[in-house]
Amino acid sequence: MSQTKTILRALAGETLPVPPIWMMRQAGRYLPEYRATRAQAGDFLSLCYNPELAAEVTLQPIRRYGFDAAILFADILLLPQALGADLWFVTGEGPRLSTITDMAGVEALKPVEDIHETLNPIYETVRILSQELPSDTTLIGFAGAPWTVATYMIAGRGTKDQGPAHFFKDGDRAAFKLLIDRITEGTIAYLGKQIDAGAEVVKIFDSWAGSLKGQDFEDFAVEPCRQITQALKAKYPHIPVIGFPREAGDGYIGFAKKTGVDCVALDNSVSADWAAEHVQVDGCVQGNLASSHMVTGGQALVDEARAIVKSFSKGPHIFNLGHGITPDADPDNVQLMIDAVRGG
Ligand code: CP3
Repeated sequence: MSQTKTILRALAGETLPVPPIWMMRQAGRYLPEYRATRAQAGDFLSLCYNPELAAEVTLQPIRRYGFDAAILFADILLLPQALGADLWFVTGEGPRLSTITDMAGVEALKPVEDIHETLNPIYETVRILSQELPSDTTLIGFAGAPWTVATYMIAGRGTKDQGPAHFFKDGDRAAFKLLIDRITEGTIAYLGKQIDAGAEVVKIFDSWAGSLKGQDFEDFAVEPCRQITQALKAKYPHIPVIGFPREAGDGYIGFAKKTGVDCVALDNSVSADWAAEHVQVDGCVQGNLASSHMVTGGQALVDEARAIVKSFSKGPHIFNLGHGITPDADPDNVQLMIDAVRGG
């Protein structure tokens, strides 16, 4: 079947005259319609577990901007919750989880078969979206990468340097490896169900990959991503996988080859020219406009968006930000970015 959805064409390796575009955190607090639906749902987690409202916020940026892809509205921390961790969000601060500090904590996690009873509403959101999205919009499912998810499960919150996870990794290797394996197994099951429900692409978010160096990067960023990608490819060979080893630096080089992902998402700590030379040589890349431009706008945004398009114009490219859009962004600047990318 010849593919018409532009994102799927780019993921298949095609160089398009205009790159398809979507945006990390495109359903979020910078949009008044998101804030209204979130208020209706109550809190953030209630919104994630309410399929009708989660589908509604996923669709809002598609209606407003006509992005080429929609990303399922959920969170990477729902999987730890499904594995048995307590999870709550403190307004203005972020996520909190019960902590895992030793082997007994890892062994107390629920078996992977049991995650779906918690995650079923998420699959229902995917099913609703696959019915309701415009026919040219690609539906992206996602999960956190095992290392990033582990950093939250170990520390019980977001940390600047992922210190507690590094202590656990270096202090009790066996327990740490078992935790990574359990999350990897859970992620394969979780993403598989998202695909069964209608996700057409999946993305693996390794937001803290940049704090792993050398062999640790190979063992805990590359290897889990490879295992997840290979397991999914064995069952769903037609479903593209996007890897996002954020702030990996040199670790971006060869990441697609080593893991088998179809596309490498780039943060804005690497220049587009460098990434075109060192990463895009292996296939599709996604990125990488600094999300600060969504706050400041103006000619600087337009110039930088056009420069990124130009840098990546000789190979497959999906335009995106280098990280999620922030709540203080101006919705008009999102339109300015889209016009700059689509209008040349
Ligand atoms: O990109 C999307 O629009 C899809 C939905 C999505 C969310 N979180 C919704 C969300 C995705 C893909 C994520 C991924 C996620 N969640 C990551 C990896 C990507 C990244 O940003 O580095 C991480 C580390 C998390 C964990 C998480 N969730 C944190 C640290 C926070 C608090 C920070 C914040 O912005 O408040 C969240 C909350 C969260 N996840 C929000 C959204 C829209 C804001 C919640 C709200 O409405 O208050």
